[in-house]
Amino acid sequence: MKKSFYITTPIYYPSAKPHMGHAYSSISADVIARYKRLEGYDVKFLTGTDEHGQKIQKSAIKENLSPIDFCNKISKVFLDLTKQLNLSNTDFIRTTETRHVETVQKLWKILEKNNKIYLSKYSGWYSVSDEAYYSEEEIENLENGKKICRATGSIVDWVEEESFFFKLSEFQQPLLTFYEKNPNFIQPESRKNEVISFVKSGLKDLSISRTTFDWGIPVPGNDKHIMYVWLDALTNYLTAADFFDKKSFWPTDIHIIGKDILRFHAVYWPAFLMAADIPLPKKVFGHGWILSGDEKMSKSKGNILDPIEIIDEFGLDEIRYYLMKEVIYGLDGKINTDNLKNCINSDLANNIGNLSQRIFTLINKHFNNKVPDAKLTKEESDLLRISPDLLKKIMDNLEIHNYVREVVAYSSKINKYVNDEEPWAKIKNFDNRVGTILYLALNALKNIFVLLHPIMPTKSEKFLSCIGIAKENISIDLISKNLESNTELTMPGLLFKKHI
Ligand code: ME8
Ligand code: MG
Repeated sequence: MKKSFYITTPIYYPSAKPHMGHAYSSISADVIARYKRLEGYDVKFLTGTDEHGQKIQKSAIKENLSPIDFCNKISKVFLDLTKQLNLSNTDFIRTTETRHVETVQKLWKILEKNNKIYLSKYSGWYSVSDEAYYSEEEIENLENGKKICRATGSIVDWVEEESFFFKLSEFQQPLLTFYEKNPNFIQPESRKNEVISFVKSGLKDLSISRTTFDWGIPVPGNDKHIMYVWLDALTNYLTAADFFDKKSFWPTDIHIIGKDILRFHAVYWPAFLMAADIPLPKKVFGHGWILSGDEKMSKSKGNILDPIEIIDEFGLDEIRYYLMKEVIYGLDGKINTDNLKNCINSDLANNIGNLSQRIFTLINKHFNNKVPDAKLTKEESDLLRISPDLLKKIMDNLEIHNYVREVVAYSSKINKYVNDEEPWAKIKNFDNRVGTILYLALNALKNIFVLLHPIMPTKSEKFLSCIGIAKENISIDLISKNLESNTELTMPGLLFKKHI
């Protein structure tokens, strides 16, 4: 039996079409999912759309559509994006699906049975754009008389309505104990402290139903109420695991999210699960912002980066590579075209691509397109070796950027070796070391493309098929297996275009 691994992205609001930030989140989760498959895991990779709530209802009204017609339209754009990004997701959930409505209602009944829900009245601040309740201390007055949440900058409205409450206050101490016993639950480290101080500052009971609009999942037994959209949304992770039936893949190994929604995933979500006696996820990773130039993307600033436009210009695998290497996973990262071009030219075209081009030209010309015979010296064997254990450690720490940097540094080392050895000169002198040099570089390229498979699946599969490795056989074990002499090769051609 294969070991299993369950990873999720946030389920995005289909209130507007996706931008580069959504793409980034999903690509990073895809890289982890694919890396785990490379290690032999059976991976469940979930993404989808979060379709209920006031924000969606308002967006639908603006476009003169019913909420469900509106969701059908925009959710399809997010679904299409999973294909355009070549995500390896195994499921795409929509919170308007029956399987989900049933799961959320089951969870509600358990919370009710466990005496964690009571009926009362909510009066306080609410932000529709964040779909979040804020306390008086979190609010700031603007000069124009409007009020915003200080942390997110979103406008808040005063809300007063009958509401069911979840006894969140009971979970302050259990949560703090849980964080202490599971120091890796919240990653990266800096985010953990934010969450802990929020919980320490005191948890009030949480309003978990609304009565002033109706686009949501009805509360069982009281359909004047619909459920708070975050209780609904978070439960998608249970739905997709078919938790109340098969319990396949539960608990989640890692929730990948942006830092904006950490409170929901690291405080409310584990509290709901504890209250329902359901095992908790193992990790929540809150990555940073993709900035457009120096700023956060927003419609009003007009600096939204459209992933499709960028992919059309530079290529999908190139963008995936750039995002994963240049943005330190966990921190904010700026995207700009000059850096992107530099990265593609120096790492992909001049380093990895050029290595492949030079080696294949010589093998084609002088070795009849077959893997040459070789006799590696001790130094050469050492040079060729790249440690899967070290890379595994880096990846288990979710340092995706360092993983990519290790691989490209290895490629640089191999390029230097080829430069120093000058096989193109040696061939003219009938030096019998040439076969060995090419053999080493060819096997290094195999290692590079196996290791970069999670990041650049299409380029990797293309290259590896040229050296006789089929897509379904790509695995981390290939790192320690050198190609056999005489294996037939085909020319991969130009792998990466340079950009000026
Ligand atoms: O919050 N940089 O959905 P959402 C990086 N439906 N990532 C970004 C980003 C940026 N500039 N902008 C958005 C919701 N993201 C809820 C989630 S989950 C049970 C419910 C990514 O459409 C990042 O992952 O507002 C962020 O957390 C998510 O999109 C928010 O997406
Ligand atoms: Mg948002």
